[in-house]
Amino acid sequence: MANYEEIFKKVVSHCKEYGFIFQSSEIYDGLAAAYDYGPNGVELKNNIKDYWWKSMVNMHENIVGLDSAIFMHPKTWKASGHIDAFNDPLIDNKDSKKRYRADVLVEDYIAKIEAKITKDCDKAAKRFGEKFNKEEFTSTNGRVVERKKKIDLINKRLNTSLSLGDLKAVKLLIEELEIKCPISGTNNWTDVRQFNLMFKTQVGATTDGATDLYLRPETAQGIFVNFLNIQKTSRMKIPFGIAQVGKAFRNEIVARQFIFRMREFEQMEMQFFVRPGEEIKWYNYWRESRINWHKSLGIDEDKYRFHDHEKLAHYANAATDIEFKFPFGFKELEGIHSRTDFDLKAHQEHSGKKIKYFDPEINDSYVPYVVETSLGLDRMFLTILTNCFIEEQLKNGDTRVVLKIPYILSPIKIAILPLTKKDGMPEKARKIMQELQLKFNCQYEEKDSIGKRYRRHDAIGTPFCITIDHITLEDNTVTLRNRDTMIQERVSLNKMEAIISENLNLAKYLQFKS
Ligand code: GAP
Repeated sequence: MANYEEIFKKVVSHCKEYGFIFQSSEIYDGLAAAYDYGPNGVELKNNIKDYWWKSMVNMHENIVGLDSAIFMHPKTWKASGHIDAFNDPLIDNKDSKKRYRADVLVEDYIAKIEAKITKDCDKAAKRFGEKFNKEEFTSTNGRVVERKKKIDLINKRLNTSLSLGDLKAVKLLIEELEIKCPISGTNNWTDVRQFNLMFKTQVGATTDGATDLYLRPETAQGIFVNFLNIQKTSRMKIPFGIAQVGKAFRNEIVARQFIFRMREFEQMEMQFFVRPGEEIKWYNYWRESRINWHKSLGIDEDKYRFHDHEKLAHYANAATDIEFKFPFGFKELEGIHSRTDFDLKAHQEHSGKKIKYFDPEINDSYVPYVVETSLGLDRMFLTILTNCFIEEQLKNGDTRVVLKIPYILSPIKIAILPLTKKDGMPEKARKIMQELQLKFNCQYEEKDSIGKRYRRHDAIGTPFCITIDHITLEDNTVTLRNRDTMIQERVSLNKMEAIISENLNLAKYLQFKS
């Protein structure tokens, strides 16, 4: 098994063992591509949301929030183009009866060639040692150059066929590359067909009077249809933004890689409304600002990269993805799109209501242009978990599993641990807990040896453990243990709150150019 598969498997089982994530409806053998967040998971998820909300809404005078309904008038989705064009190309294998996304089959094929290039590079790096220059090697080594050429060619054919809606050409490509079904091992494929990803339901008591409704596939449309409401009631002047965190639903054909691709997930989106002609300036601003937000969490910067879109959606004039290096490779984490005035204009046409902004600075009215930032909350969760899951070899020969989650996002901030269950230690510990829990999320634990309790808190990413012992009862000092260094210090209780507050200081994290 490849190393990354092993790590990923460990992360998934760690999530279950420590109450981060459970398979949905597990007692009924589970429901594919739906997950429940357990006690530690919901804390981490809320902390990620808060961190995003603080930096996007609270730290920007010109960005306000919204919580719009999941159900929207069905015309919304006609206007946005989702009814006509929110499709994935699907293909079935006639022998295994398994269904695949045709584009994903081709992308997986490309990923295999990329893996071969990585192997070539690793081998060469070993051979040349310090002299190894990756850029030079990949642009001059015959085999790597051939492989890169092949990837470009396949990508070009796939993108052209998809943008022309030529599904026959997509099937031909799959056949020519001799891509086989991983289950049956055959290439006995059906034709490629389009499949709409929206979930449909009905509202109304009788079949006659019922109206078709869709579960929203993105939160953004709730923002667009509320543009005028918010602009007027909040007296916002362009440029300004509207942010929202909420559920979105997509009937993904291939839902896999744990919480990376689900059918029910959460998005953190912000639409920034700007003057026409100024959208590229703001697109560049948000491109920079968003990558800085990710970097502010202290995750290895090499794990992020931009993937600028060459092939743009018909409504966009610039788009990029921030990709993160998950254990299964670089994949999209967040999208930043310059969406022109496409959405507001479409809602104007379909609703018959004027959606314009009067700009007092230029004494003119216009339909604003939009720059969107769209981050998947669950993917951000997976980013944190896969990056922070560490199996550490200790000097005494033991191994410990530790989640080195940025302190500010940790589910529990302080574990409060009486050394023993007697001699007044639990009472003292509870008193300390009562004071600290007003400010920090604390957990009291008295079961098991202190070593076991430390390990348990390492495994859920608790940055600080406070141990109350006999000396505490005499001089009001405790042992403060740090998760990452495992160093234990004797600290006076008077100073405790200040020390921990300093470590969780939001200003320290959010001091990035935004
Ligand atoms: N409003 C723009 C929009 O929805 P998108 O690229 O389709 O753009 C934005 O989605 C983000 O939502 C993605 O970058 C990803 O993080 C997250 N996302 C999309 N589909 C997802 C799924 N099936 N499961 C989990 N997250 C998903």
